[in-house]
Amino acid sequence: MSPVRFILVGLGARSRIWRRVIADHPDCEVVGVAEPDPHRLHHVLDDAAAPKGGDGSTPAADLIGGTRLEEVAAEVEADVALLCTPPTRREEQIGAACAAGLAILAEKPLADSLASAEAHVVEAERAGVPLAVGLNFRYLAVTQALRRLLLDGRIGRPEFARFTYERWRDGRQPRLNSYPLTMAHPMLWEQSIHHFDLMRFVYDAEPVRVTARTFNPSWSMYEGHANVAALITLTDGIEVTYQGTWAGNWQEMGFEWRTECERGIALQRHMFGDLGWAERDDPEIRSVPLPEHEPWFDDARGLLADFVERFSDGRPLPCSGRDHLQSLRLVDACIRSSERHATIEIARA
Ligand SMILES: NC(=O)c1ccc[n+]([C@@H]2O[C@H](COP(=O)([O-])OP(=O)(O)OC[C@H]3O[C@@H](n4cnc5c(N)ncnc54)[C@H](O)[C@@H]3O)[C@@H](O)[C@H]2O)c1
Repeated sequence: MSPVRFILVGLGARSRIWRRVIADHPDCEVVGVAEPDPHRLHHVLDDAAAPKGGDGSTPAADLIGGTRLEEVAAEVEADVALLCTPPTRREEQIGAACAAGLAILAEKPLADSLASAEAHVVEAERAGVPLAVGLNFRYLAVTQALRRLLLDGRIGRPEFARFTYERWRDGRQPRLNSYPLTMAHPMLWEQSIHHFDLMRFVYDAEPVRVTARTFNPSWSMYEGHANVAALITLTDGIEVTYQGTWAGNWQEMGFEWRTECERGIALQRHMFGDLGWAERDDPEIRSVPLPEHEPWFDDARGLLADFVERFSDGRPLPCSGRDHLQSLRLVDACIRSSERHATIEIARA
């Protein structure tokens, strides 16, 4: 099989994971990079040109660099544009990928407004360009195991759940992106989007309505709302109580996702693992064995493997842009619910 050739667009925090993951995949290569920041661009180009093996004998990669996707796509043959850029103002990148006939793998969220995301999906469909969104948390072993546990019927059908994610996220750290510091709803667009996608994926259900409140605690470093509290109704009548924050006031992370089913519960106590289940009268949780996992890398590897396999077979891509719109509709509905102090019905596309 000939390698799938990627142009990496945006060379910030997230691209570091993708560069390693693509390099590790036997059937993938990065052939081009686009980044407006000259320091970041030259760092990556110099790194690619540096000898790799201990004896310095490994040939240097012929990596094409430029400040914009359009420019790089004109200079190198490629198959996929991998967007690791902030979600704001991706119009030019989507347009350039469509014009060059490149498939798109866009980091979540596809855009920072529902209208823009819908426009990107329609533009890609019209251009006949497949569009996938990087929802790596679906590929965690714990997520796959939780989904199987709920689908195999052992503890019956899920009826309600509590999902809590409490994190002190220091957005000023150099290893993290800083643009969320000035977003209107950083928690919802940047983080809850993963959680909403996980709920849909694990329960195989779609959002129906939501009552939400977003706010910002006094000590938050974010200009926009770092807190989200929501009561979410999904299809099949599943009710989820959700609390998410980037301004939890302890540096230790709090994560718990407890699903109440007809005969017992499923309990995930860590975002990367620690899954168990119990029937109503069990004295203790029964732990679900999970494989060793390298956080952030193995989930991206799983996503890439699935993407490449389907892309190479010409099958529909995983986590399609159109599917992602359902999660973005829930984000958008949370914002409207909080602004209007109202319950919002979520239209199905
Ligand atoms: N899936 C995950 O778990 C995960 C984790 C972190 C970030 N992300 C997502 O990855 C995306 C990027 O985040 P990040 O942390 O790398 O942000 P970042 O700010 O660290 O890096 C973004 C880079 O894109 C560059 N850029 C901006 N406009 C560009 C353009 N038009 N063309 C080319 N490059 C451009 C910026 O100069 C910057 O170097 C966001 O959508 C974010 O939500 C996903």
